[in-house]
Order: sequence, then structure tokens, then C-alpha cells
Amino acid sequence: MSDINGSKVANFYHGKSVFVTGGTGFLGKTLIEKLLYSCSGIDKIYVLVRDKYGKQASERLGRITSTPVFDRLKESRSEELKKITAISGDISRERLGLPDDVLKILEDEVSVVFHLAATVAFKLPLKDAMKINIDGTENVIELCRRMKKLEAFVHVSTAFTNADREEIDEVVYPMPMKLESARLLADMFSQDEEIITKFMGKKPNTYTFSKAFAEEQVMKQCEDLPTAIVRPSIVVSALKEPRPGWIDTWNGSTGLFVGMSSGVLKVANGRGGNVTDLVPVDIVTNLVIVAATECRKSKELKVYNCCTANSNPITCDEAIAITRKVAIKHSLNEFPWPFIMFTPSVFLYNLITFTLQIIPAYLIDLWCTFTGRKATQMKLQRKLKKVIDAVKFFLLNEWKFSDNNIRSLLDNMTPEDKETFNFDVKTINWETCIRDYLLGARKYLLKMEN
Ligand SMILES: NC(=O)c1ccc[n+]([C@@H]2O[C@H](COP(=O)([O-])OP(=O)(O)OC[C@H]3O[C@@H](n4cnc5c(N)ncnc54)[C@H](OP(=O)(O)O)[C@@H]3O)[C@@H](O)[C@H]2O)c1
Repeated sequence: MSDINGSKVANFYHGKSVFVTGGTGFLGKTLIEKLLYSCSGIDKIYVLVRDKYGKQASERLGRITSTPVFDRLKESRSEELKKITAISGDISRERLGLPDDVLKILEDEVSVVFHLAATVAFKLPLKDAMKINIDGTENVIELCRRMKKLEAFVHVSTAFTNADREEIDEVVYPMPMKLESARLLADMFSQDEEIITKFMGKKPNTYTFSKAFAEEQVMKQCEDLPTAIVRPSIVVSALKEPRPGWIDTWNGSTGLFVGMSSGVLKVANGRGGNVTDLVPVDIVTNLVIVAATECRKSKELKVYNCCTANSNPITCDEAIAITRKVAIKHSLNEFPWPFIMFTPSVFLYNLITFTLQIIPAYLIDLWCTFTGRKATQMKLQRKLKKVIDAVKFFLLNEWKFSDNNIRSLLDNMTPEDKETFNFDVKTINWETCIRDYLLGARKYLLKMEN
């Protein structure tokens, strides 16, 4: 069956209401925009938003819809925005902190649930990460269970839940310990980072550790629910939609790429020959949208590794070579030689950082101070150090992610849907993608003219 536009995917959403958690985040905004833009028959989108910074949920959502991610929708069909309703709540609270009347609306009306909310901070105390990423997921599942019309529950995880393995299939791997024991330890040693790191074993941080447990809970608790898990790798700016290069977060690899292209970052602790698994945000949201349409057709939980390493790999060295070319062509570099070296040696990394970054930064700051200007370079270097510390695990290692479920999902799509809801990573041209990423970061994050 297809709708007037010939889209089976859009037709699936026709007349349906969906519920989104994490709608104020990078992926969540892109998802909401695309649903409204390409599934015009959708009925309502309920978005769970925390009251935060003294702002209520509806005010926060209103501000988000006035950001550039919604520009193309506002230019073409701004009335679609009326389909969004903000619901004030918090996933870490029982029943998401929702009052009975709101719960009843969701239970009666919602057919599709997209669970994206999470804390993505790598270094949050384990207890706090577990509260949001595990308890939060359990609370969302509990709500799904009460939904009378539920046709799909899509849980957005991360490809790095299993970063302790080299080859990662599209399955949920069992955790090496019971959740109750992990909860107990997280409670007992919440302030002791060393013990927590030891007991997380090969999982690199509290984010991936808690997200891995969340996956396990989804597998255990959703046996009888139409469920899918989507695991993106490192999400970068949009390939095409809503605009090429659109991005609004510094999380992930953006600091590294911007640092490189500006010429201020000269070295990173990693291996240049390693494949770096980057995936554009619109590829992820399109997959999330399409995965929901298949949930009811499969009796088993489907896991989708939304990664590029298998079907369209790019190494760190190749990504740098493109970055350098773009930086020079578009004059993005404020400092000479927009090029970085990779070294797995901590000693060499520290030595090169000190020689090529810290000394020049210190001298520039000194010069600025003498000439009455603001000294900013050492502050920038401290920020870059944090960026490298956060991403070095992903630069020092590489993984093989299988993507068979994604390939067969693509095989079953109509040519029109493949075009409208493109998530085929083979269509990524890395030259264009990285160029748009760098220019997009400059435009949307640094607010500079290109
Ligand atoms: N970006 C990536 O590179 C990447 C890669 C792999 C997987 N993922 C996964 O994709 C999902 C979205 O990531 P993102 O990059 O969009 O992250 P993000 O920009 O940090 O957004 C996180 C979202 O979760 C919400 N949230 C956090 N705690 C909450 C709570 N207790 N109750 C309700 N909402 C809460 C945040 O709301 P507030 O605005 O109130 O803070 C925000 O909307 C996450 O599940 C993440 O694990 C992301």
C-alpha cells in the first residue's frame, strides 16, 4: 500500500501520533523535523521535554522550533509545526513524572515511540548515568506497555555499547554482571572513580556502560513489544537534510575537526590508519523512521548498526587529508598548516602538543597581554585537551560493525522511499560530507560566514 506520494513509509505514519523523548537534542530535533517534512499525514508529535533553566517545556520547545533546523519546514509548510505538543516530564522519574490525564492521552493515542533521551556525558558518575540511561529506558518501556495502539518502539542506543569487542554484530550481547550488582556497586562507590573504572572492565566510560545495560533491559522487557534498537556510531552533520552540513552540537568529533581545520590542533593520540566510524545525522534519523515501520513485521527484536565502517569505510588519515584540502581551499585556517599527526604514543603526543601547540599558544597570549588584547589561546588549548581526551579511545581503536539488517531493510524499500528516507551509507561521498561538516560547524556553531 502506498499513499498519494507513493511512499510506504509516509503512509505508515498517516493518521498516527508519535511520542519522542530527547526531542530537544541533536538527533531528536532532526527526527521531528523530518517526520513533519516528509510524513505530512502524521497526526501529532508528543515531545517529552524537561523543564530546565527556569523555562517550561513548551517554552523550550518553542525556542527550538525557531532554530535553523526548522527553517526549510517553516519556509514551505509552517502549519506542520502545530502538530508538535510539548509534554513536561523527565524519563528518570517514575511514569516519566507525568500526571494521569497526560498519561491517558499518550496511552490512548500514541502508536510509535522514539526513545532518544539519554545523558551522553562520558564522565558522569555511574549512578547518575544509570538513572537516566537505564531507569529512564525502563520507565519509557513501562509507558509503551500501557499504550493501546503501540505499533513500534524504537530505542536509540550507540554502536559503542560493545566497544570491548572488535567485531560487533546486530545482536544484544549479555552484560558480564547482573544489573542489581551494578546498581549496588554504583551506589556504594559513587564517589570512587578508580573502583568504578575497574568494575566497568573494558567498557570505556559510564555512558557506554549504562547504554549497554539499557539495551539488555530492552531485550529482556520488550519480548512482546514491537521493538527495534538503532545503534549510531559517531554522529556528524547532515549529509543533505534539513541542510547539508547542519549541526548544533560540539559533542562527538566536531571539536577535533574544527581544531584541525583551524590549524590550532597539530596532534592527536590515535592511529591514522584506523577506520573512523562517522555517520551523518540525517542518515540516522531516516533509519530510525524506517525501522519503526518494520517493528510489527518481525517477531524478534531487530538491531541496526548504523555505522559506516563496513559499507563505506574512511580512515582517520583519509579524513584528515580531506580536512586539510577543504581548510586550505576555503581559508578556514587561522594558523598555518591545517594538518594533524596521529601517534599512539602518549609520550610523543605530549611532546608534540607541548612544542607545536602549548609554546606557540603561550607566546601568542603573552603578546596579546602586552599589546592590550585578550589572551585566549591557552584557554583554547585546555579545551582541545578535553576534546582529545574524550575521543582518544575512539582514535586508538577500530571496530568491525556488521550491517546486514540495514542492508536488508534497504532492499525492501521502494526506490522513492530510498530517495526520501535515505540511510544507505554507500551514498556518502566523504569529500562532500567532510567539506559540509567543516563549513556547517563554522556556520551553525561558530556563527561565522563561510
Ligand atoms: N550524537 C552522537 O554522536 C550519538 C552517537 C550514538 C548514539 N547517540 C544516541 O542518540 C541519542 C540522542 O543523542 P544526541 O546526540 O541527540 O544527544 P543530546 O543532544 O545530548 O540530547 C539528549 C537529549 O536527551 C534529553 N534528556 C536527557 N536526560 C533526560 C531526562 N532525564 N528526561 C528527559 N529528557 C532527557 C535531553 O534533554 P535536555 O534538553 O533537557 O537536556 C536531550 O533532548 C542518545 O540516546 C545517544 O545515546 C548519539
